[in-house]
Amino acid sequence: MEPPPPYKVDRDDTLAPRWWDVRAWSKKKLALVAAGLAIAIVVLIVIIVEVTKNNKYPDYSKLNYALTDTYSGTGFFDNFDYFTGYDPAQGFVHYVPAAQADSPQYNLTYASSTSAVLKVDTSVNADTVPNASTGRFSVRIESKKQYSDGLFIFDVIHTPTGCGTWPALWLSDPANWPQNGEIDVMEAVNVVAANTENQMTLHTSPGCSMSVKRKETGKSLSNSCVNTTDANAGCGVHAGPSTFGSAFNSQGGGVVAMELRSEGIRMWQFARAGLPADIKSGSPDPSSWGVATADFPGTDCNVGNHFRNQSIIANIDLCGSWAGTPKIYGESCPGICTDYVANNNTAFADAYWEFGTFSVYKAT
Ligand SMILES: *[C@@H]1O[C@H](CO)[C@@H](O)[C@H](O)[C@H]1NC(C)=O
Ligand SMILES: *[C@@H]1O[C@H](CO)[C@@H](O)[C@H](O)[C@H]1NC(C)=O
Ligand SMILES: *[C@@H]1O[C@H](CO)[C@@H](O)[C@H](O)[C@H]1NC(C)=O
Ligand SMILES: *[C@@H]1O[C@H](CO)[C@@H](O)[C@H](O)[C@H]1NC(C)=O
Ligand SMILES: *[C@@H]1O[C@H](CO)[C@@H](O)[C@H](O)[C@H]1NC(C)=O
Repeated sequence: MEPPPPYKVDRDDTLAPRWWDVRAWSKKKLALVAAGLAIAIVVLIVIIVEVTKNNKYPDYSKLNYALTDTYSGTGFFDNFDYFTGYDPAQGFVHYVPAAQADSPQYNLTYASSTSAVLKVDTSVNADTVPNASTGRFSVRIESKKQYSDGLFIFDVIHTPTGCGTWPALWLSDPANWPQNGEIDVMEAVNVVAANTENQMTLHTSPGCSMSVKRKETGKSLSNSCVNTTDANAGCGVHAGPSTFGSAFNSQGGGVVAMELRSEGIRMWQFARAGLPADIKSGSPDPSSWGVATADFPGTDCNVGNHFRNQSIIANIDLCGSWAGTPKIYGESCPGICTDYVANNNTAFADAYWEFGTFSVYKAT
């Protein structure tokens, strides 16, 4: 009888290590796989952190506000200092002291029982005595009192218009800028278009970003509030059409509310016809106003550290480092900004602020 054929074993098929048998991997393969896993874990953690951060939002729960200061009536300007130094924004202006601003000859600041007017001079030209050949007379007022938090209600009846103008209603601590921050409540340049948009902006020292979750109706223009970014453009928000300029003025203006609290800074702009009843009655409650026009949450910006000792400031600059650059000025206005300002006194008749009452409230 023939012996049976020897039992054949295909060793390669049954006993060779499977690909998942880590014990059989070379050191190199092990190292590569370990490195890949580590990278995947890091990427996952970064994604989780980012998603969490992007969803983070401050708790703006209701605060109860009590009135602390009112700027109104014939004494409106009494609680402001008149800034008379060289313009820090390189404007083509000479900011005048209170005595000159109040004089019947110039009449650049004038308060009645119902409103306060702050104007650009319309009396001099390049060839008069005095003259406007090195800049036009204007006014910049800064509240003596400074604030580090609170709710500010600004009633604005008329915004300045015209070529070369750079009006602003803002808060800052100019002696400690940008360390103590700047909050621009109303600002625009070369206000010619009827539907001009108000721009609400923050300026800070390093460490204040708005690349975070925000709830606002306005359009964000930039996320870095830091003064060294983009030549100090700040983190601005456009408030929407006709929130500055002639269309805004023809409706009797409106009210801008700014809330400064550690959770963040929010601003609302209301047309005169749409004022919340609680503002009219003097018991403002931001938690009842709905989505803000501009929202600057403190998520990636320590508001308490970046914004301190803020004076309320109103001014009308002319030309300067924003309105006067050939590119910006040329977008809506003729010739060269400083020539226009020096030679065209009658063009500034509408370049005035008219304010109703400013009210400041503090959380109790
Ligand atoms: C000063 O200006 C105000 C507001 O525009 C005006 O009502 C007032 O008559 C002016 N006064 C003088 C002396 O021109
Ligand atoms: C403008 O006034 C200054 C004095 O304030 C004078 O020196 C200058 O010559 C004047 N310029 C013109 C063009 O009148
Ligand atoms: C930004 O602020 C710093 C001071 O912190 C200052 O030295 C610098 O000139 C400022 N830059 C601009 C563009 O404003
Ligand atoms: C704010 O102003 C007060 C009073 O002038 C001063 O004592 C304090 O140091 C200022 N704070 C900051 C952060 O500048
Ligand atoms: C003066 O302003 C008016 C508009 O108010 C403008 O039409 C005119 O061209 C300006 N004149 C000069 C010399 O710039």
